[in-house]
Amino acid sequence: MKCNRLVDAGRRQFLRGGMMATAGAVATTVMTPEQAKARALARVEMPTNRLANIADLTVNEPMDIAYPDEESLGVLLKLGEAVEGGVGPDGDIVAFSVLCPHKGWMMSYSAEDKSLNCPGHHSRFDCENGGQQIWGHATNNLPQFLLSVDDAGDIYANGVDELIYGRLSNVL
Ligand code: FES
Repeated sequence: MKCNRLVDAGRRQFLRGGMMATAGAVATTVMTPEQAKARALARVEMPTNRLANIADLTVNEPMDIAYPDEESLGVLLKLGEAVEGGVGPDGDIVAFSVLCPHKGWMMSYSAEDKSLNCPGHHSRFDCENGGQQIWGHATNNLPQFLLSVDDAGDIYANGVDELIYGRLSNVL
């Protein structure tokens, strides 16, 4: 009998705890104006920079670029067939950082298998699959620049999907 009362008390305590947790979760989803303002200030703003025009590109020949600033080197590619993150009429134009995510060595493009390759410790990244790492010491995929194309065929970089090597954040 005493044992049942203890079990009942335990159940009530458990249910009360669950209700408190739910109320807490609801409370945390409602932001004060100050919190909303602080969050807006923390949002990463990347510039929109013109990189080239579609007419400047040749299939499978890399063009050197820099984004979001001159310190951050990259490559612009027209791969010849639609790929992940590709823009333009054929969905085949992509851009990546060429700074290896492992220790920042400058990578080079291999037209043979459309990969970027690091001379430092031999990490390899697949340009046809969003910069996915094929092999190596890097612990993240290659930063891909987010592109758009206007009606005149001008190609713009508007952001980046991973942290560029050597930077504590992508905030400029
Ligand atoms: Fe590229 Fe180490 S710096 S794999």
